Amino acid sequence: MSKNLIYCYSGSGNCLDIAKNIAKVLGDTDIVMMRSFPAVTDARNAERVGFVFPCYAGGLPGNVEQYVKTVTMGPDTYRFGVVSYSGYPGVGLKKISDIVRLDYWTGISHHCSCIWLFPHRLMVPTLSVKGAQKRSEKLAKKAAEEIAAKKKLDGEPGAFFLNALEAKAWPALSKKKAEKLTSDEQCISCGLCEKLCPAGNIRIVDGRPQFGKNCIGCLSCLQYCPAKAINMGGVTLKRERYHNPNTPAPELMKKVIHID
Ligand SMILES: Cc1cc2nc3c(=O)[nH]c(=O)nc-3n(C[C@H](O)[C@H](O)[C@H](O)COP(=O)(O)O)c2cc1C
Repeated sequence: MSKNLIYCYSGSGNCLDIAKNIAKVLGDTDIVMMRSFPAVTDARNAERVGFVFPCYAGGLPGNVEQYVKTVTMGPDTYRFGVVSYSGYPGVGLKKISDIVRLDYWTGISHHCSCIWLFPHRLMVPTLSVKGAQKRSEKLAKKAAEEIAAKKKLDGEPGAFFLNALEAKAWPALSKKKAEKLTSDEQCISCGLCEKLCPAGNIRIVDGRPQFGKNCIGCLSCLQYCPAKAINMGGVTLKRERYHNPNTPAPELMKKVIHID
């Protein structure tokens, strides 16, 4: 097993990019993806274990909380959490810390992937894709150096009660929004959306995606569609697509990524 393990959920690649940038500083790291049940849950021999994930509606995406509960660590394992968000970090770090007691945590803002709600440039502060990426890389490097030095923070991550309410309402809301997912005649029947969906919620029927009722709202299908054929209601027709410039779709689908 590698010296360090980073558990990562990523819908449009920002978190995977952050995890890779942290791993490059730490060296000898396995990034275990949490888009499905994690391939490695026994982390007792790891020196450092991290959790990198986005803020979704003030909380955490999909099954992340359940997956974190399956990870076993030693009593001396150094534990860290990093949340990626566009405007506010939400309650995700607190939720993770309630499960694994984090030693260190931080937030890194990046472009917004929730394009049915906001254009992706609506992040705080507003930056171009290049600018946001540069900033994210700088912040990930700073965090990684602190993680390498096993910096410990006092107390626990904060949680704003309105974000907790938002997170509670999200699963039902996301299912409702998912009823608006459609594909149009630009579809090239490549099947990428079906392969990418972390919830197994897309099936290709007669060359076109059909969307089920288990959508978790990550929008990987929409953001990575090479033909821009997937939309969520009328609003996304006019909005630019975004996925992290350093995260190609095949990488997002891997179970474990090793960084030397
Ligand atoms: C369904 C959904 C909900 C989101 N909710 C929030 C939010 O409540 N607050 C926020 O600041 N960003 C929110 N975002 C933006 C993401 O947290 C941000 O773009 C993050 O960098 C995405 O990481 P990823 O590319 O690894 O999926 C949301 C994105 C999605 C897709």
